[in-house]
Amino acid sequence: MRLTVIGTGYLGATHAICMAVMGHEVLGVDVDTSKIEKLASGQVPFFEPGLPELLTKALDSGRLRFTTSFAEAGDFGDVHFICVGTPQQADSEAADLTYVDAAVTVLAPYLRRRALVVGKSTVPVGTAARLAGMLRELAPAGNGAELAWNPEFLREGFAVDDTMRPDRLVFGVTSAWAEERLRDAFEPVLAQDVPVKVTDLQTAELVKVAANSFLATKISYINAMAEICEATGADVHDLAEALAYDDRIGGRFLRPGLGFGGGCLPKDIRAFAYRAEELGVGQAVGFLREIDGINRRRRARTVDLVVEICGGDVAGKRVAALGAAFKPNSDDIRDAPALDVAERLRAAGATVVVYDPAALESARRAHPDLEYSTSALDAARGADVVVLLTEWNEFREIAPSAMAAVVRHRKIVDGRHALDPAGWRSAGWEYRALGRPTVAPLEKEHRR
Ligand code: UGA
Repeated sequence: MRLTVIGTGYLGATHAICMAVMGHEVLGVDVDTSKIEKLASGQVPFFEPGLPELLTKALDSGRLRFTTSFAEAGDFGDVHFICVGTPQQADSEAADLTYVDAAVTVLAPYLRRRALVVGKSTVPVGTAARLAGMLRELAPAGNGAELAWNPEFLREGFAVDDTMRPDRLVFGVTSAWAEERLRDAFEPVLAQDVPVKVTDLQTAELVKVAANSFLATKISYINAMAEICEATGADVHDLAEALAYDDRIGGRFLRPGLGFGGGCLPKDIRAFAYRAEELGVGQAVGFLREIDGINRRRRARTVDLVVEICGGDVAGKRVAALGAAFKPNSDDIRDAPALDVAERLRAAGATVVVYDPAALESARRAHPDLEYSTSALDAARGADVVVLLTEWNEFREIAPSAMAAVVRHRKIVDGRHALDPAGWRSAGWEYRALGRPTVAPLEKEHRR
């Protein structure tokens, strides 16, 4: 099949590369010439494990090409995937649909024969129906230019696996022909018995925001429990583990700590709440504002904990911040809790030295006032306090004794519950984590 993928950011580049590896002829399209040049020369413009190797494979097969020409895309493709971003609007909580609208508006005049345009971007419910109308109006093919919705559930850091072997596929369609085209496009995925849900456009749009809202709710739920633990001396880590044994609850996305960030969950729950209000059903998802509130409080509370462990003031203190990316195995710093905390500590008068295995360059560009180091131990040299903000494996493997040898004070705040408190405490560290008692429960027992 001849496919085009419009927008070669995280989602689009991964989709284009994987579709070519799975045997389709693929044309990646973007308005950003430098991105297109990089991809065409075999470089993935962001950090994603496994993707560079697949890009090389796809380019070598001759089935993957890149262009900035929408005319070429219209000519080439039978199915066009829209993978452009839908960030939060600068002055409201609504999604900014500029790029989605532009992709359809610019592509449509080049659709001269029957073609399927498939939205993958995360959009407010009702967008697809509006875009379908725009397509019919602007495409020379008229009703032959059809719209479908196929939301994407890939996670950064696992993008290749999530694309090649997703949990499920969702096809929002308005005709049997559109469903057939999608089944053809995803044939190699469907051949692995991946379940597919065929539905209407609006349900397909909703599946995505409902899924991300549920995930955000789960994270904020356990972080709300952490607040209760903090007030009672209970241990949220043990609580989460005990809850996870119940299959109905499950342990995934129940990791307490600094909370969620990134380019998806925060803006998606806000856009969903905004859209629901527009539709007159804001009350139904009013709890999402609470979920957002709990999540924001985690950042402030982490700063408080650092201040507390420093004796009530961080002014003039040296803080080693381990992590900048919004999560491990990613160089994405969009709405990164780690950098938010680092900035707040700097604003409170601390000297903050940041280290991240992948996101240093982008962090340095976005936060030039922070200081940067090229290793965790280097960042910790002379530190009054170490704060773990992104749970990279590299940080879990640090020997408490090795870090003790370089810091000024053995104080650590584990913002991600990534370290073993007993190991750090026995090496002489004062270990603190949100929602965990200052002294381990067993030690408390022994003291009685
Ligand atoms: C999220 C969804 O998980 C994907 O299914 C979805 O496709 C994607 O958004 C999207 O809409 O494009 P992603 O943003 O890559 O994926 O990251 P997640 O793995 O969901 O993590 C989000 C944030 O939650 C991170 O900051 C992570 O540290 C935090 N998190 C996650 C927790 O604080 N606790 C947990 O238990 C899990």
